[in-house]
Amino acid sequence: MKISIVGAGAVGASCAEYIAMKNFAAEVVLLDIKEGFAEGKAMDLMQTASLNGFDTRIIGTTSDYSKTADSSVCVITSGIPRKPGMTREELIGINAGIVKDVASNLLKFSPNTILVVVSNPMDTMTYLVHKTTGLLKNRIIGMGGALDSARFKYRLAEALGAPISDVDGMVIGGHSDTGMVPLIDHATRNSVKVSEFLPVDRLEKVKEDTKIGGATLTALLGTSAWYAPGAAVSALVQAIVCDQKKMIPCSTLLSGEYGLTDLCIGVPVILGKEGIESIVEIELSDAEQAHMKASAEGVKKTNDLLDL
Ligand code: LAC
Repeated sequence: MKISIVGAGAVGASCAEYIAMKNFAAEVVLLDIKEGFAEGKAMDLMQTASLNGFDTRIIGTTSDYSKTADSSVCVITSGIPRKPGMTREELIGINAGIVKDVASNLLKFSPNTILVVVSNPMDTMTYLVHKTTGLLKNRIIGMGGALDSARFKYRLAEALGAPISDVDGMVIGGHSDTGMVPLIDHATRNSVKVSEFLPVDRLEKVKEDTKIGGATLTALLGTSAWYAPGAAVSALVQAIVCDQKKMIPCSTLLSGEYGLTDLCIGVPVILGKEGIESIVEIELSDAEQAHMKASAEGVKKTNDLLDL
């Protein structure tokens, strides 16, 4: 089992690290355009193998896509990250060209691969990969919901004063500060709705803190976050290559599901060896439904900026 990750920046490298630590892949290839950078990250990570107890081989390459040949899953993290005060949408001009080229280069050497898109604005980049590669929709997956849901659980646990393992919750919708739809009406502590424990205004704060999760970290770090994004990608890749049939919210092309068409946006999907094996349609509350509709309008507006 071989996984390739394009972009050996902080997100790509953490993703490689978490995949190796989970020990489910034989090989991870890190590719970057910066001379020697991916080779350096790969060597540094390989020197943790005896300490951290993994056998995954991590290989780095400067732009040599032949090294990624026959990958089961390819992850696209390349592009520029957010700076404090920037939205994900502002990255579209530069990142669209990069993502399009990277997807086409990967498919030359791994025509049967499953592509995981992480570059921002992620839902629009996922849509762009659909439009420019023509791959079947199960093989193109946008990573956002797994990360946003992890941040939601962090905020729920904080508000409840509970361990994170006690809480469950999911974020669907667009991966943007306004587009995320934290499903607060569905969130639970040990199967009991969180609304039984928290007043409406505290639930509202959990939602707002979740939606600006990425922006909060960008302001603190001076660039976008990497640990949770890397961990979220590794969970998604593991669900695919280990055929786990896990339900994880991912950005996927919709054709009528949730009343939406011709856009990629986060919805719960079942992930297994075919990639997105099905889309799960759950009943949304009226508020969640209205929020999802507004979120889709936002994603479509960003898609309209693409030069397709
Ligand atoms: C974030 C980036 C990965 O939310 O979109 O941190």
